[in-house]
Amino acid sequence: MRKNIVAGNWKMNKTLEEGIKLAEAVDKLVSQGTPENTDVIIAPPFIHLAELAKRIDTGKVKLSAQNCAAEAAGAYTGEVSPAMVRSTGAEYVIIGHSERRQYYGETDAILKKKTELALENDLTPIFCCGEVLEERNAKQHFEVVKTQISDALFLLSEEEFGKIIIAYEPVWAIGTGVTATPEQAQEMHAYIRSLVNKRYGKQIAEDITILYGGSCKPSNAGELFSNPDVDGGLIGGASLKADDFYAIIRSF
Ligand code: 13P
Repeated sequence: MRKNIVAGNWKMNKTLEEGIKLAEAVDKLVSQGTPENTDVIIAPPFIHLAELAKRIDTGKVKLSAQNCAAEAAGAYTGEVSPAMVRSTGAEYVIIGHSERRQYYGETDAILKKKTELALENDLTPIFCCGEVLEERNAKQHFEVVKTQISDALFLLSEEEFGKIIIAYEPVWAIGTGVTATPEQAQEMHAYIRSLVNKRYGKQIAEDITILYGGSCKPSNAGELFSNPDVDGGLIGGASLKADDFYAIIRSF
């Protein structure tokens, strides 16, 4: 059955001490209760993962990395492998965030490798896709998202693909305060589900969780999540305040 998910991407924010405080505050709020069939995930910086795994109830607040290496091990200074991420207790990894694509040159070919290696190491990829403003204005947004998803994911087996979570994050909505309208989100999510249906069939398309990301906050989450193909959110700025993050979780 399809899961609802609210995931917090902290990006490059919070020292270890600050991160422990935020994670413990989220953990405390989540222990008061969450809507049925809704998973909560936080994605702090790498260096927080092992410590947070010891301090929070990871049955209720699951841990994700924000990135991982495309190689398994070896002489890759500064990189963190999927196996290392998994060894901290994290169960998820965000792959292909637009900031990684834009600032670190991550291509669909690199993201394909990262996704395959993450799956091999028992991590669930949260695969991000989305168009920039010029592409939407040129009405290329469907084509752009189709290429991102098919190039990086559509060579996976059915079994592998069945583990993927997709996050649609229109780049023009990230950190800008401009949210996609519920209609724009629903339209793209339905399109993504139709692509999955064509490639992997009805059951996998029905079951895949597709998250929306981009200026999602307590005041608009309810309207976004009420769409039939929007199964939750990948939250940036609003995940840095425990109360806002919890309000978004409760808005299902
Ligand atoms: P904001 O919620 O800050 O717009 O960020 C969204 C995002 O990029 C989550 O990955």
